[in-house]
Amino acid sequence: MKAQDLVDLKQKAVGEAASAAAPSDLEAVRIKYLGRNGLLPEIMKGLKDVAPADRPEVGRLANELKNELQAAIDSRREALETASGAQKAKAFDTTLPGRWRTLGSRHPVTQIIERATSIFSTMGFTVADGPDIETEHHNFDALNTPQEHPSRDPKDTFYLASGLLLRTQTSPVQIRVMENQKPPVRIIAPGRCYRRDATDATHSANFHQIEGLYIDRQVSMADLKGDLTYFARQMMGENVQIRFRPHFFPFTEPSVEYDFSCHVCGGKGCRVCKHSGWIEISGAGMVNPKVLSNVGYNPNEVMGYAFGMGVERIAMILFGIPDIRLLYENDVRFLGQY
Ligand code: PHE
Repeated sequence: MKAQDLVDLKQKAVGEAASAAAPSDLEAVRIKYLGRNGLLPEIMKGLKDVAPADRPEVGRLANELKNELQAAIDSRREALETASGAQKAKAFDTTLPGRWRTLGSRHPVTQIIERATSIFSTMGFTVADGPDIETEHHNFDALNTPQEHPSRDPKDTFYLASGLLLRTQTSPVQIRVMENQKPPVRIIAPGRCYRRDATDATHSANFHQIEGLYIDRQVSMADLKGDLTYFARQMMGENVQIRFRPHFFPFTEPSVEYDFSCHVCGGKGCRVCKHSGWIEISGAGMVNPKVLSNVGYNPNEVMGYAFGMGVERIAMILFGIPDIRLLYENDVRFLGQY
């Protein structure tokens, strides 16, 4: 065994290791050279036959062959493993069942507000907004609500330490709009309201209303009834009737409560309408001239109608939701149905 043979052999072995195409080829290279019956042990055994003067050099080269080949095998193995990992990651099993991504849905209250907004926008109404935390001026005084009116009672209204309150209705938005805008006015104002109501199947301390306000030179109860009827039919269905019942609100005169005929039974009476054939929506009326004066409008020049509607009420009858509390529990199994 000559020194040059070992140098050539090292080159050959390292070359084979580096070009191994698969881990099994690499293993074959290892066995061929480094294995127990491989070439290297044989060379080691043959060392004793080498001329004593050449022995150190041949021994050194044999060790170098062993170390460098081992390093070449290790680095090639690592490269092959990385490549096969990347290949696996790229592989796509087309027989796997698809992964279902659940779809989100809009909250029923949001859906009603969006539909109502689009229906009223076709009638020329724009959307106005106001704060949930209101002044007594906007929520009561300017709306002509007398000091002794029961709705002002802290048993019914949430007052804050600052003297402000959580609005009990969306009607203060009427005041905010009229204080800031000359007539004519044609707005709706959807939003959250708060009352100290004990919670049950139809009451919640927190609920939504859509306020409507229309001010112009000539506006009548007939406009109110016609517009609400149009809305009701767009929202609930072609044959819905609307009914006014006399009522009182400080900010409208005359005032009514209004009902939609039950869209489920067509007015014959069913569980949804509690067998009355009618579903109570909220209040409305002709804007009280005192309110017009309060915002600086001239009641001799302009007049108007206003209405409120209970959003949860409409959601419940339209979607057949039996309990208002379901709308506030945020259970996605419930909400996902609408
Ligand atoms: N704000 C009244 C309520 O909450 C409803 C209403 C609005 C009545 C507008 C008349 C005019 O009950």
